[in-house]
Amino acid sequence: MNRDGLIAIAHRAMDNAYAPYSGFRVGAALRFADGTVVSASNVENASYGLSLCAESVALAKAMDDGHRGGLEAVAVHGSGDAPSPPCGRCRQMLAEMAQLGGTDPLVWCAGEGGDVIEARLSELLPHAFGRANLE
Ligand code: THU
Repeated sequence: MNRDGLIAIAHRAMDNAYAPYSGFRVGAALRFADGTVVSASNVENASYGLSLCAESVALAKAMDDGHRGGLEAVAVHGSGDAPSPPCGRCRQMLAEMAQLGGTDPLVWCAGEGGDVIEARLSELLPHAFGRANLE
């Protein structure tokens, strides 16, 4: 699964977004070393602050599927024109999976305008807090 393929899956995942409050739909797709792709969308709540980002939902799905590391690439697609980068909380969530497998995933951020931002997770979240800090 290449860059455009993973972005296309994230784009498709937006269709399932439950975002009646913000109206901003997000899809995320995670690619693992075994070839598996796990995708999800954002899930909002009438108690706004409880809303879940697409990346966090995808992370939880992947964990529940048994993934523990091997995260190679992430695509995020928002319904706005500009590329949609993962929020701070989602960067931390992604870092947990990355650290489990010692990978530094590529993150592709896309929007309806067609521009794509590409960065390593370590660039988006340098000096990430992790399990090692708890020792
Ligand atoms: N959102 C995501 O799904 N991922 C992010 O990284 C940033 C924001 C969602 C949360 C909320 O449902 C909507 O976008 C507007 O903030």
